[in-house]
Amino acid sequence: MRVRPARPHWTRPSQLDENRHTMPSTTSDPVVARDEIPRFLVEAMRDPFPEYRAWREHAPVCRTPAGFVLTSYAAIDAVMRDDRFIQGGGRHLDRGWERSREAWSRWIIATNPPLHTELRRTMNPPFQPKGVRRLTERVEALVAELLDRLDGRPAFDFVAEVAHPLPMQVICELLGVPEPDRETVGAAAARMAPILGSGEPPEEYVAPGNEASELLLDYFADLCRRRRADPQDDLLSYLIATDLDDDTIVANCQIMFFAGHETTTSLLGSGLLTLLRHPDQLALLREDPDRVGGAVEELLRVCAPVALSQRRAGEDVEVLGVPIPAGSRCLLVIAAGNRDPDRFPDPDRVDILRADNVPHAGSNISFGTGRHFCLGAHLARLEASVTFRRVLERWPSIALADGFEPRWLPSPVFRGLVELPIEVA
Ligand code: HEM
Repeated sequence: MRVRPARPHWTRPSQLDENRHTMPSTTSDPVVARDEIPRFLVEAMRDPFPEYRAWREHAPVCRTPAGFVLTSYAAIDAVMRDDRFIQGGGRHLDRGWERSREAWSRWIIATNPPLHTELRRTMNPPFQPKGVRRLTERVEALVAELLDRLDGRPAFDFVAEVAHPLPMQVICELLGVPEPDRETVGAAAARMAPILGSGEPPEEYVAPGNEASELLLDYFADLCRRRRADPQDDLLSYLIATDLDDDTIVANCQIMFFAGHETTTSLLGSGLLTLLRHPDQLALLREDPDRVGGAVEELLRVCAPVALSQRRAGEDVEVLGVPIPAGSRCLLVIAAGNRDPDRFPDPDRVDILRADNVPHAGSNISFGTGRHFCLGAHLARLEASVTFRRVLERWPSIALADGFEPRWLPSPVFRGLVELPIEVA
């Protein structure tokens, strides 16, 4: 018998009473309040999946004082594909940080048509399969280098040694960040991360985060000037050769730098943890390494490194029969949609051979859907496929360190492991 989970613990009936709440009106002000992510998402970070399920079973499109919370695959997919839902607000920038605020509004992910259409058309080509295939050799070489450095070490932290450095090196190479600058740029990105992925970044993170944002903007502006004078075979030089102005290029270097590594680090870390916790699936992959493509899709589905996103209703809209008034904020809980039993039967079961989770034939929504579908999806899949294949090939035995208890990033948006200590032989 299927046991129905309890209603989410923080939900009082009054909060779910459609008639008793008006939506918070923040659309006219891009600087939104710090409490914009409902507490349940923050509190459920350690093990959010039962909470997500309870929400979906209660109401897949649920009105709350903080906005609508969408937890079914169909609802999230519908909103992402519907141009009446737009991007807007949702970034934590104190007044006084005008420069970052202006830059962040130029991020491709923050824009709406027609600007988004234009940016997407310009930025797309290097990220298409043909462009990404060019990188295969380089990704193979970087993975081999990282794994070679671990030769003779029976135990190490997979996140620190592989999952973090690989995507960082790849995005730096792609953008054209020279080797000696990578540490500084990476450190700035790490300081900025907490203000991006949290509804309520602790006060002490806000000023350093904003300073780091400015440092990155300065860095990419300087690199942009250097590439203009001396173009190279990199993404930055490619963007400079287009019609985009420098401010837009610099801002989008900043977002690509972020989008390109934190998320992939999380997929590699949580993905390996999932395989180690499901030895039958690990065995299937070891038996036939060509199953790695399916494995990556399934790990994307169950791990969902970007657990949630959001949109605003640009006009009155109905989703699955629920009226959503213009201006309403919609939280799209991607990680919940990926475990919707109406879309993926037996959704909590990890199955790398799933026939219903195949790209282009309707797969998981970890990369989003619709116009903002992840620009780096092919690249992330490439990095993950090469890494899992080579890691399993290198070590016939991999085990979690004794007493390992996962610690997750302190973010309800980006779900990733802080560390993954493993023992190899
Ligand atoms: C496992 C790794 C990754 C995951 C799970 C992921 C997830 C996502 C998601 C969910 C979105 C859409 C958000 C929304 O619609 O609100 C997105 C957009 C985006 N991603 Fe990724 N991403 C990953 C890797 C990458 C990489 C490697 C890059 C490289 C640059 C990248 C660049 C972007 C960009 C630029 C956008 C915005 C696209 C647009 O607005 O048109 N991502 N990603």
